[in-house]
Amino acid sequence: MLASVSLSPNGPRVSQIIFGTWRLLDSDTPPTTQQIIQTLELCLELGISTIDTAEIYGLYTVEAAIGAAFKDQPGLREQFQIISKCGIDVPSAAKSKASLPHYNSGSDNLIACAEKSLSLLNIDHLDILLVHRPDWFTAADDTAAGLDLLLQQGKILHAGVSNYSPAQFDLLNDRVNTPLVTNQLEFSLLNMEALDDGSLTQCEQQRLRPMAWSPLGGGRLYDPNDEAGQRIRQCMQDIRPRYHDADDSALALAWIMAHPAKPIPILGTTQAQRISSSALAAKIKLERQDWYALWQASTGYSVP
Ligand SMILES: NC(=O)c1ccc[n+]([C@@H]2O[C@H](COP(=O)([O-])OP(=O)(O)OC[C@H]3O[C@@H](n4cnc5c(N)ncnc54)[C@H](OP(=O)(O)O)[C@@H]3O)[C@@H](O)[C@H]2O)c1
Repeated sequence: MLASVSLSPNGPRVSQIIFGTWRLLDSDTPPTTQQIIQTLELCLELGISTIDTAEIYGLYTVEAAIGAAFKDQPGLREQFQIISKCGIDVPSAAKSKASLPHYNSGSDNLIACAEKSLSLLNIDHLDILLVHRPDWFTAADDTAAGLDLLLQQGKILHAGVSNYSPAQFDLLNDRVNTPLVTNQLEFSLLNMEALDDGSLTQCEQQRLRPMAWSPLGGGRLYDPNDEAGQRIRQCMQDIRPRYHDADDSALALAWIMAHPAKPIPILGTTQAQRISSSALAAKIKLERQDWYALWQASTGYSVP
């Protein structure tokens, strides 16, 4: 059973691994409400009590699917911490009249999006709202005003960001009344930019746990044509006996979790067996040289 951890010094508690819902409805035969309930109940059994979603997922359809599960299964919502993200506007039948994809983190839009998310999810507050991406056209004061009002009204309990550079994080954090609780970043063996671009360093410095999206590189780890993915899996083959024969996903998640900023991986799979085996990552404590062996397999060269 996974533990819960504190996301920031005075922040919310979330599970050590988060259930992501970007791909929830992606299959040719999307899950029924009952199947979504079963998946969420499996997550709870494993100790995965935090759900990551976003207004835009499934082109604005995923939140309603999760909301239907909450409506059909009373008491389910209360067992989860719910994260949503807003501020991406993409032309779509379900929501937007926009003529091209763009970002909008202005206060009016953030408030409207958060209220829409609450209605679609059938809930009265979000545990955490993240600004999905930096919006270069909006002043930090404007974004901060929207987050502050949502916090004041109790519609969100905590605010954070996603895909912000350290400087963008600092600016917004300076303007909000209540400190941001996380930065949700792409970080995995298939994308290690966060190691050196200052974002993980900033989280460690501020004692905020980052969340790591696409922990398997969006599935690249399993792509037979992906050279880095293949090198990493070969390396995992070699180190696996030291980690109770954990599978590749669990090792990839353990590699993320071993960073000193203590990133929280967000699962992408919605398959029951893969969710269960991924949860084993929390038990794995990678040895230093194995962590570097995986780094080396990813880059294709040894440390300078
Ligand atoms: N903040 C942001 O900007 C942002 C961006 C992207 C994602 N996210 C969040 O991060 C979450 C995870 O992202 P992600 O979906 O890209 O995660 P991921 O875990 O890197 O990739 C998931 C993909 O890997 C495949 N996969 C998993 N295990 C596999 C296996 N054993 N063999 C073959 N394929 C396998 C999955 O297929 P199956 O489903 O068939 O298992 C799925 O297609 C999302 O759900 C979302 O909540 C946030």
